[in-house]
Amino acid sequence: MNVGIIGAGHIAEKAARTLAAMDDMSCIAIGSRTLEKAQDFAGRFSIPRAYGSYEELFADPDVDLVYVATPHSCHFANTRDAILAGKPCLVEKSFMMNAAEAAAILALSHEKNIFVAEAIWSRYLPVRDIVCSLLEEGAIGKSVMIMANMAFEVSGKERVVKPELGGGALLDLGVYLLNFVRMYTKGTIERINTTCIRSESGVDATENITMVLEDGTMASVQASAWCHGDNKAVISGSGGFLVLDDIVNPTCVQVYHPRRELVRTVKVPEQITGFEYQFRACKAAIEAGEIEPPQMPHAEILYIMHLMDRLRSEWGTL
Ligand SMILES: NC(=O)c1ccc[n+]([C@@H]2O[C@H](COP(=O)([O-])OP(=O)(O)OC[C@H]3O[C@@H](n4cnc5c(N)ncnc54)[C@H](OP(=O)(O)O)[C@@H]3O)[C@@H](O)[C@H]2O)c1
Repeated sequence: MNVGIIGAGHIAEKAARTLAAMDDMSCIAIGSRTLEKAQDFAGRFSIPRAYGSYEELFADPDVDLVYVATPHSCHFANTRDAILAGKPCLVEKSFMMNAAEAAAILALSHEKNIFVAEAIWSRYLPVRDIVCSLLEEGAIGKSVMIMANMAFEVSGKERVVKPELGGGALLDLGVYLLNFVRMYTKGTIERINTTCIRSESGVDATENITMVLEDGTMASVQASAWCHGDNKAVISGSGGFLVLDDIVNPTCVQVYHPRRELVRTVKVPEQITGFEYQFRACKAAIEAGEIEPPQMPHAEILYIMHLMDRLRSEWGTL
């Protein structure tokens, strides 16, 4: 399967490095708003085709999947144009700027019968099954509490600071925390208490979100784009707790029993960067004739987008 990347920025580099190391998929083309930048990127990652516009990449008949690696504010137009050109898409998180945009893209995907997925890579990693199995087998008894944070000091990054580019900690980092909570709990979110510190530019800089889930779990998560965090997650249960050394891509899951006794460490499989799992999920779904991957169904994308709208509306940053 041939992937075409649009937007020759930071995360596109990681995707290109990943695809270069995969044997079942490869990056065939890079599209940038400037040809020079595309050519430079193509040279660095041995990508055979470089285009000076996204439209040219969409028109390439050999591109089987478009990876949208542009700022949040561009996802809607870029994904719409790719779908209208008949291209399946893997769109970086956050999927869109808001739920209305997400609903319109998902409707278009259904209407045209074209695959669309969100590149929220934590959903596709093998560690998800490891954690779910531990919870199901009762390794920590009944889950009661989730604590997690995700913070990177990226306040110098234009697309994080500017409201018009879809800036703010929630769309950039908090989205992983919401997905983490949704992956390891059951039912809907019944109650939310939240507070946020806004940046001078008017985006959400630092936030705390406490949620009570239908299954009785309480989740308390913090995100910030203005400081560094340990980015760990703890799931506490009646018989012990699980520690993930990274909220997105942990190296292992540790199982603790009462009195903080470490009883088990489950390592995750060797990986390239971890991005390979989301690309393979797209390949499998497209080859099966599906328009969404089972790891992140369209209904779930929409649920998270509505949740983020609700939070940002409360903070006055929507
Ligand atoms: N999965 C992850 O771990 C991860 C990590 C970081 C970011 N992301 C996501 O990836 C996406 C891109 O983030 P990034 O950090 O790679 O951003 P970035 O370094 O700023 O790159 C974004 C690229 O988008 C293109 N672009 C198109 N319109 C633009 C505009 N109006 N302003 C600026 N750039 C524009 C540019 O490429 P051209 O000039 O070549 O067209 C730019 O290089 C975001 O959705 C972000 O949330 C994901």
